[in-house]
Amino acid sequence: MRVSKKEKRKIIEDFKKHVSSGKVSTFRKYGMQFIMGERSGPYITDITGDKTLINCHSNGGVFNLGHRNTQIIEALINGTQYFDIGNHHLISIQRARLARRIAELMPGDLDYVVFGVSGGEAVDLAIKLARGYTGRHKIISIKGGYHGHTGFALATGDEQYRAPFGPNLPGFVQVPFNDIEAAKKEIDENTAAFIIETVPATLGISIPSKEYMQALRQITHDSGALLIIDEVQTGFGRTGRLWGFEHFDILPDIVVLGKGLSGGIYPITATVFRSPMEEFFRKNPFIHVSTFGGSELGAEVALKVLEISSDPEFLEHVRHIASLFASLIPPLIDKHKNYLKEFRQLGLMMGLVFHEEKHGVIFSKAAYDVGMLSIYANNDRRVSQLLPPLIIEEKHVHEIVEKIDLAISRIKYYSAIFTVADFVGRLLP
Ligand SMILES: Cc1ncc(COP(=O)(O)O)c(C=O)c1O
Repeated sequence: MRVSKKEKRKIIEDFKKHVSSGKVSTFRKYGMQFIMGERSGPYITDITGDKTLINCHSNGGVFNLGHRNTQIIEALINGTQYFDIGNHHLISIQRARLARRIAELMPGDLDYVVFGVSGGEAVDLAIKLARGYTGRHKIISIKGGYHGHTGFALATGDEQYRAPFGPNLPGFVQVPFNDIEAAKKEIDENTAAFIIETVPATLGISIPSKEYMQALRQITHDSGALLIIDEVQTGFGRTGRLWGFEHFDILPDIVVLGKGLSGGIYPITATVFRSPMEEFFRKNPFIHVSTFGGSELGAEVALKVLEISSDPEFLEHVRHIASLFASLIPPLIDKHKNYLKEFRQLGLMMGLVFHEEKHGVIFSKAAYDVGMLSIYANNDRRVSQLLPPLIIEEKHVHEIVEKIDLAISRIKYYSAIFTVADFVGRLLP
């Protein structure tokens, strides 16, 4: 889809008047008035056709399989021959098929699934289940973690996202990341659950130690609390394994799936939990409903996503592409050592760590100008998140590395024009 520059201005005006004037003025200020038009594989093109970006943000994993993946579109079209949303109260062929497939692909007795529409909704349900099942109320999360902007999910997050909405809900506590002692101190007989992302993305693609994840598993188990693992970003092969938590040899009690399950085409999310917890819903089968959650059409898409992502060759491909980044980024750190400090990576879950916050933030703008979408992590702005679609090929890796090199070379110039305050909290959350 393409429109003229004049038509583009009209779209921006309509967006400003009827959707968000704040977003329009922010993007105008930084010369980032990009409107997605044509899109394919890892690329998105402005609606005028004037600018193309290689997508290294992928909406946090929504576009794991690239934009408008033809297999996914075909699944959706096939699904329309038989299905619609379905009825959220009745027994459903599609929810049964999809839940069985997820259970087959999960380890242990992670055998039950409740579907949702957004990641936040799926996290909310995980917390409801943890409280309902244990009869306890305390929910522990990590400082700088992020689980969504809905009710309970918001309550697990940092104050900057909650402050305008009044005091936090009671029972929610945050502890520092990767700190076993702090977790040990906080988890007690009132704790319903500890919730953590496998790799906290908003905290700057911070990779936990295996020791930490295993300690969390042990401590929660010993105190009768549940361990909720948020795989919204790390699921579906992002880390080179189907589920990110597999790297840590742990069996969570509840796993939250989102973003990538949609294939970038149809929103669908899932809360997966171990068999014993089903007892809570057996007693209360209608205590949680979601009208669109687990739409029968969406299930057709999600089944195709699982088929593609669980293929051993696909996962091998992700690991191969990740190994290319692992060899090509460190020389860039040597070249730009005044700016770039560290490369964080678990498969294609990657982060470029700059020495200074302002450089992490300004890199987002510099990357945009050289044709790459990579966005800083809002809870550690020294880090630019690098999550390209998993289907990229070797040539794309070289293109991305060249663009990173070029963008860093421009940081000095941009630093003279913009201040961090210009960007922070304004550019993108
Ligand atoms: C790790 C994680 N959990 C949960 C969510 C919330 O998902 P949604 O925006 O679909 O509600 C997000 C969204 O960015 C996320 O990154």
